[in-house]
Amino acid sequence: MSDKIQQPWFKLGIDCSNAYRPGFERYFDYKSTKFDVWVVEKSDPKFYACLRKSWVDSIESKFGLELDYFLLFYRAPHFQCPTAHIDGSDQGIAYRDYGTGFYTFGVNFVTDADDNTEMLWYNKTRKDDGIVLNRNLSAEVNYKEWLMSDIQDLLIDRKVIGTELTLVDTTRAHNIFMRDKPRWGFTLRFKLNSLDLSTWERAVEYFKPHIKYD
Ligand SMILES: [Fe+2]
Repeated sequence: MSDKIQQPWFKLGIDCSNAYRPGFERYFDYKSTKFDVWVVEKSDPKFYACLRKSWVDSIESKFGLELDYFLLFYRAPHFQCPTAHIDGSDQGIAYRDYGTGFYTFGVNFVTDADDNTEMLWYNKTRKDDGIVLNRNLSAEVNYKEWLMSDIQDLLIDRKVIGTELTLVDTTRAHNIFMRDKPRWGFTLRFKLNSLDLSTWERAVEYFKPHIKYD
């Protein structure tokens, strides 16, 4: 396994500044919360009220995959989640089960052109003991979590996601380091059908033709 594969993020060279429709926030009840996650299925009218169809079409044809849904994450300025997590837990699935109960990657962007928040990854996987908290989020996602104070020494990498589409590892514990602005983050999830992307390495291999190396 090469060092490149172990890296938990890869830039895909696709600009997302026009991917979303300004004002999409109005469809989500975020004003009284510091952190929430919503899921929007492709069949939901909100899907194309938030994302531009022309952009979605271009992404689908580029990757040869059909979009299934997106997750939308809101964090208030300076909100620091006390835990890092992996998507999915021992007691349930990460929103939708593709056969493994875990989703191994996200295809992400943030709406703020001047995004200076960072995604952080830690060396904990689903095999490691963690905690399962009831987060009461809008989307029925569930997570296996670790207190940040317990894993500080296990940091693998940190990266600003920004408006460039980025493939991110969701098999290792991750969190967001917030700064002084709100953060709206989209995660695209695709229909995988019989495609086996059940490990981070397989996901990286699939997206390799689109990865932009510095
Ligand atoms: Fe996650």
